[in-house]
Amino acid sequence: MSALQINSFKEYKEKYEKSVTDPESFWSDIADHFHWKKKWDSVLEWDFSKPEIKWFQGAKLNITENCLDRHLDTIGNKTAIIWEPNDPDEESRHITYRQLFVKVSRFANVLKNNGIEKGDRVCLYMPMIPELAIAMLACARIGAVHSIVFAGFSSSALASRINDSQCKMLITANEVYRGTKPINLKAVCDQALEQTPSVEKVIVYRRTVEPTDMTEGRDAFWFDELQKVEKDCPAEEMDAEDMLFILYTSGSTGKPKGMVHSTAGYMVGATYSFENVFQCKQDDIYWCTADIGWITGHSYIIYGPLCAGATTVMFEGVPSYPDYGRFWEIVAKLKVTHFYTAPTAIRALAKHPLSLVDQHDLSSLKVLGTVGEPINEEAWHWYNDNIGKTKCPIVDTWWQTETGAMMISPIAGITPTRPTFATLPLPGVQPVLMDEHGNEIPQALEPAEGRLVMKAPWPSIARTIYGDHQRYKDTYFSTYPGNYFTGDGAYRDASGNYRITGRVDDVVIVSGHNLGTAPIENAIDEHAEIVECAVVGFPHDIKGNALYAFVTKYDESKKSDDDLRKEINNLIASTVGAIAKLDKIQFVSGLPKTRSGKIMRRILRKIASQDAENLGDISTLLNPDIVEEIKSGAL
Ligand code: WT7
Repeated sequence: MSALQINSFKEYKEKYEKSVTDPESFWSDIADHFHWKKKWDSVLEWDFSKPEIKWFQGAKLNITENCLDRHLDTIGNKTAIIWEPNDPDEESRHITYRQLFVKVSRFANVLKNNGIEKGDRVCLYMPMIPELAIAMLACARIGAVHSIVFAGFSSSALASRINDSQCKMLITANEVYRGTKPINLKAVCDQALEQTPSVEKVIVYRRTVEPTDMTEGRDAFWFDELQKVEKDCPAEEMDAEDMLFILYTSGSTGKPKGMVHSTAGYMVGATYSFENVFQCKQDDIYWCTADIGWITGHSYIIYGPLCAGATTVMFEGVPSYPDYGRFWEIVAKLKVTHFYTAPTAIRALAKHPLSLVDQHDLSSLKVLGTVGEPINEEAWHWYNDNIGKTKCPIVDTWWQTETGAMMISPIAGITPTRPTFATLPLPGVQPVLMDEHGNEIPQALEPAEGRLVMKAPWPSIARTIYGDHQRYKDTYFSTYPGNYFTGDGAYRDASGNYRITGRVDDVVIVSGHNLGTAPIENAIDEHAEIVECAVVGFPHDIKGNALYAFVTKYDESKKSDDDLRKEINNLIASTVGAIAKLDKIQFVSGLPKTRSGKIMRRILRKIASQDAENLGDISTLLNPDIVEEIKSGAL
């Protein structure tokens, strides 16, 4: 496990220096620690103007041989996955590396037996059960591309993702419990499948004993399919740059972006960052509470930890069931050493009595982590004092679906931490702050604030947006030509520590979920009595941000405002998902617009955040009078 780990602050500085001055030799040394069927001809070729990025070209490998096969002789009997069910009375499952290897190989044969070939896309819409891990690794085993859709998304969100990448197969479960709520996943799938002609087969894992509607010829049960195949499945030989997976993330226009990740670069990036940031030792128990439907789950529940030979915990349930002490009960029960969660979860848990924490023995904990949004001072201290008992370093890890791996983060116990700061870039990561004119703000003794940009590629950067390379270029490489633009703003102190201040574009992070405002606006606009709307985020104690909509309705509308509010939120729940429901809906007679007709969101954001004292220059508005009306009616 430890060959890749940095052991001192001095070593960090040396490695960082080398990674910047000679990235090819730096990453080639790291890559030597993996299993390759054939090594690379060139380490890195890149051109951000196209953009084109290629790591380890010419190399051949299969990521599952790195996650599984190569561990069999050394740690085959070590637990790879500990699964903790929703219901605390149901048994946990402990799956060793050898058992996981056998299950993945066998299920890979099920995929093949159902017509899946290298390069085909397979959609996974599954609960947090080991079979999700098995299915994703089985795809990787045969070179099929997995596209995992978070099982909280609606049927239309699922359908549009399936259609965008033309998935041939859908893998799901019949039903799942999250808290006390049963969720019929298969029914959601059936609805989506009415609009997804590319799907030929559906494999259904039976998570509960409830009866399940099956469509003859299309649907088959996981267990029945396993009976039809052999257990051995050799790993497909993949090119370094072959697509490993697609993962959709919200964009600022209606359509989600299918971020495409590579095989070799992604593997090296996810594993190297996992090893260093968390510094896990052989017997540690590592738990990331994210869902595998997000990038955090891909990189830091499955690929990173398994490549590193760690024991990774998968939790099916929710932090509030049977009570708000569930996380801490699991930490005590499994003797978790590393705990990685989101600020929104920390804030939600901090609202409940401390006795829910204190009745559990948290002395096994060594390292705490956060991800997904800026952590506020108060939540940071609550986490540090009550969970870490001031003895555990907190790694505040900044990264994105697009970056594939952590980018700016402390290295636990090795580099200094500073509350609310993601601190220093990991080796190989070259952040820069830019002003709005595209000038670099050099590191100086004065702290600075600007837009966060990367001036060189790292191995796990997403290579394109599925089916839309132009959009990839426009979104990330056009604002600051020659650089990758993160979309985030950041503050940097005199020692080079970064604090991420948030998105500068039209994406709002609600409870750690990255939500584009455009698809929500599209949903609202579908309502027959609504003319148009603008959705912005505003700060929220628990969720980090919540959503606020400014809505204009037709004069003829006879419905009460409250009825309309309900209908709007129902529309959003059924098209985007319940996570995107609005906290506040204000009806207005018009929206502030520029002369070219673009809604001035900057103004609405300030009003929603109750920061409307200084709105800046509003003289460019087509309808400046509307601002006073909106301000006086603000909720
Ligand atoms: C956006 C990416 C990366 C996995 C989870 C979210 C925000 C992420 C931090 C952090 C401040 C953070 C950024 C980023 N973000 N981590 N430690 N501190 N902000 O992935 O959905 O692609 O969202 O999350 O704004 O751009 P994502």
